[in-house]
Amino acid sequence: MTQSAVLFAAADLPPGEIRRAELPDGTPIAVYNVDGSYYATHDTCTHEEASLSEDGELFGNIVECGWHMGQFDVTTGTACQSPCNVDIRTYELFVEDGMLCVRT
Ligand code: FES
Repeated sequence: MTQSAVLFAAADLPPGEIRRAELPDGTPIAVYNVDGSYYATHDTCTHEEASLSEDGELFGNIVECGWHMGQFDVTTGTACQSPCNVDIRTYELFVEDGMLCVRT
C-alpha cells in the first residue's frame, strides 16, 4: 500500500531553491522547486557523499553537485554530467492543503 508523509509548507521552498527533508525512516532527501513544480531525489550524490541540498545548486531542472560538478535531472533522476554516471533515486511529491507531501 502506498503511504505518504508531510514534509513542510510548499510556500517555504521558493522557485530555484533546494531544501533538505527526511522520510519517516530517516532517509535524507533533497526537495527542489523547478519553476513552481516540486521534485525530490535522494539527498546523497551517487558519485561520492555530497549532500545535494547543502552543496548542490539548481539550474532549471538540473542540480549540479558542488563537490565535482556532476549533474542530475531532478525530474527523472538521470545522471547527465560526469563524474555522475549512476542515476539518483527520485520520490513522488504532491501538495495537500498547502503542505508538500512525499509518497513513501
Ligand atoms: S560527490 Fe557529487 S559529483 Fe562528486
